[in-house]
Amino acid sequence: MAAQADVFVVGATGLLGNRIVSAFLDRDVTVRALVRPGAAGEKKRALDALRAEGVELVEGDITDPADRLATAIGGARTVVSAVQGGPDLIIDGQANLLAAAEQAGAARFVPSDFAIDITKLDDGDNVMIGWRRQAAALFGGSRLGVLSVLNGAFAEVMTGFMDLIDWEKGTLSHWGDPDQPMDLTTVQDTALYTVAAALDPALADGGTVRFAGEVVSMRRFREAVERGTGRKLTLRTLGTADELRAEIERRAMTTQNPFDYVALQYQWCMVTGKGKFDTLDNDRYPEIKPASVEDFARTANLPA
Ligand SMILES: NC(=O)c1ccc[n+]([C@@H]2O[C@H](COP(=O)([O-])OP(=O)(O)OC[C@H]3O[C@@H](n4cnc5c(N)ncnc54)[C@H](OP(=O)(O)O)[C@@H]3O)[C@@H](O)[C@H]2O)c1
Repeated sequence: MAAQADVFVVGATGLLGNRIVSAFLDRDVTVRALVRPGAAGEKKRALDALRAEGVELVEGDITDPADRLATAIGGARTVVSAVQGGPDLIIDGQANLLAAAEQAGAARFVPSDFAIDITKLDDGDNVMIGWRRQAAALFGGSRLGVLSVLNGAFAEVMTGFMDLIDWEKGTLSHWGDPDQPMDLTTVQDTALYTVAAALDPALADGGTVRFAGEVVSMRRFREAVERGTGRKLTLRTLGTADELRAEIERRAMTTQNPFDYVALQYQWCMVTGKGKFDTLDNDRYPEIKPASVEDFARTANLPA
C-alpha cells in the first residue's frame, strides 16, 4: 500500500461521494477510497477517473469483515461514508465501517446522512431517514467524533427524483403549503461543506452541522426555476399535507418496496416543515458561496 492517506472514503464512485473526493483533493488532502471492483463500462470509467485524480483505490465492500476494512483504512484519520442503499448498508454496513475505523485508530467518522433534519423526524416519517436514525443510535457509543452533515434536499433531486416538474405540461406539482420554507443545496455545495466540516478542528468531537444553499418555499422554488431556465411553470396543488400522508400510507399497503413511495415521504417531511433546519452552519465557512436555486437552474441544463 502507498503512503498513508489522510482520508478514507466509501462511496467514491457515487454522485455525492465523487464530489467529496474531488473537494478533499482540491484542498491537498490525500484520499484512499474503498471501491467495489468493475472492469467494464461506466464503473471502469469511474474507477479510472479516480485513479487519474490521484486517489488510491482499495477493492472491497462496506460489509467486509471489520479487520479487513481496518487494514484498508490504515492510518487515515477521517473516514467518510457516502454510500447509498438499504438497511444492510446504512445501518449494518456503516456500523461495521465505524468499528473498523475505531480498530484502525481513526479520529473522525462522517456517516452517509446528507438529508433534511433527521434529528427532528420520527422513525415512521421516512424509511430512508429511519435507517439513518437507527444507525446514529448505534454510533452513539463510539469514541470517534461522529459528524453528521445535513444539507436539506439536493437541488438536483427537486428537479429530478422528486418528480415535481412536468416540463411538457409546464407544471410544478406540490402537496401542502406552497409557502413553507425548505432547505435546498446542490450536490457540489454539499460536498464542499462536507469537506470543510470534516477538516474543521472545532468539530473534532463530532455533532451535527446543517447547511443550505438557499431556503425557499415551493412557490419561490418555482419562480427561481422559471428565471433560471426561462420556462414557464404553473404551480399545481395535489392536496394537503394530510392527504399526502394518506397517499403514502395507501401506497405502502400496495408494495413491499419502500423506494416506491420514499420520494413522497421526503416531500411530506419538507412541506410540513418537520424536517426543516432550525439553524444553519453556513457561516462557519464563509469562503463557500453556495449556488442559489436560480443559479443551479440556469446551469443544470434543464429539462434534463
Ligand atoms: N438530500 C438529498 O436530496 C439527497 C439526494 C440523493 C442522495 N442523498 C444522500 O447522499 C448520500 C450518497 O448518495 P448518492 O446519490 O451519491 O449515492 P449513489 O450515487 O447511489 O452512490 C452510492 C455509492 O455507494 C457505493 N456502494 C454501494 N454499495 C456499497 C457497498 N456494499 N460497499 C461499498 N460501497 C458501496 C457505490 O459504489 P458502486 O459504484 O460500487 O455501486 C457508490 O459509490 C446518501 O446518504 C444519500 O441518501 C441525499
